[in-house]
Amino acid sequence: MTSPNTRLLAALIAIAAALPPRAIAADPPSVAEQTVDALNKVWGKHAGVRANHTKGLVVEGRFIASAAARNYSKAAMFDGTPINVTARFSDSSGLPDIADGDGRANPHGLAVRFHQANGADVDIVENSLPFFPVATGEGFRDFLLAAAQSGPGAPKPTKLDAFFATHPAAPRALGALGTPTSLARETYNGIDAFILVNAAGKRQPIRFRAVPAEGVQHMSPAEAAKQPPNFLFDEMRARLAKTPVKFHLMAQLANATDQTKDPTKPWPETRKLVDLGTLTITKADPDSVNAEKPLLFLPGDLTDGIEPSDDPLIDARNQAYAVSFGRRTQ
Ligand code: HEM
Repeated sequence: MTSPNTRLLAALIAIAAALPPRAIAADPPSVAEQTVDALNKVWGKHAGVRANHTKGLVVEGRFIASAAARNYSKAAMFDGTPINVTARFSDSSGLPDIADGDGRANPHGLAVRFHQANGADVDIVENSLPFFPVATGEGFRDFLLAAAQSGPGAPKPTKLDAFFATHPAAPRALGALGTPTSLARETYNGIDAFILVNAAGKRQPIRFRAVPAEGVQHMSPAEAAKQPPNFLFDEMRARLAKTPVKFHLMAQLANATDQTKDPTKPWPETRKLVDLGTLTITKADPDSVNAEKPLLFLPGDLTDGIEPSDDPLIDARNQAYAVSFGRRTQ
């Protein structure tokens, strides 16, 4: 279940995790702490901001569920009542000033908080990777540690070369990325599997994705390198000043034989997609830099009718996001 209580708990855990080492001397750092440390090794430490997906833009909008959504989930957000959303588009990396066209700004992120009419919020946190490079929190930490030791001048084969050789999903996932021509023209994938539960108790494993109403459009790396540093966020602000931006929140339905615990393994594209409703972004926050500070999106912040699957990455993410939040708000 999810609610302000989950968020409060996460914040408390994060604050405990951020206490000086002496206060918790008996405990070795958790995987989540090691992961945030590893993110800081790769990208540098930047006070007061997210350890990953650091550069972003907070936006507001609404969500209206489709009639089909109710067949799959009893969640209040799918009852057809229009609800408000708060969302944040982001560039990847822990660099606060990364150029939007830099290859390291891929995958781009879209974190959405659905403000259900019953007062309980639901978070769906997605990015533009089709599947994840690694299956576990430990795997992501090791990937980052290998990357941190493979900078310019590192002996060949680098630690990252060795990591890619033993984790073939990683180079494949990263190789699938491209820079979009607009943040409104990218698909954002939930990657982790969740379970929708309907009023009759029927359980359906799914993966979320937000599909742009205007279609996906990418540019070549050479074109991306020529763009002004803030071209994606500037374009989004300018676009929203004129017209709303729409996405379809889709659920990709698993077959009975599809595994749910490994986010490096996408399900076949032939699996049925159900349109759960329309997400309409209407406005960029004029003070996004301050608006993003208290926001903590948690992929496990769900509600009655949407449950986590056995995918261990969901909890690994919850813990790492909470550690990053604890440190950036200290
Ligand atoms: C073990 C795997 C992962 C780890 C350890 C991790 C770590 C993090 C951390 C530390 C943050 C900053 C959180 C904050 O300070 O609020 C973050 C943000 C984010 N992550 Fe992940 N991540 C993981 C996997 C993923 C996956 C699978 C996705 C997409 C499906 C994703 C999408 C995002 C997005 C969109 C944000 C920005 C949220 C915002 O706008 O506030 N991450 N991640």
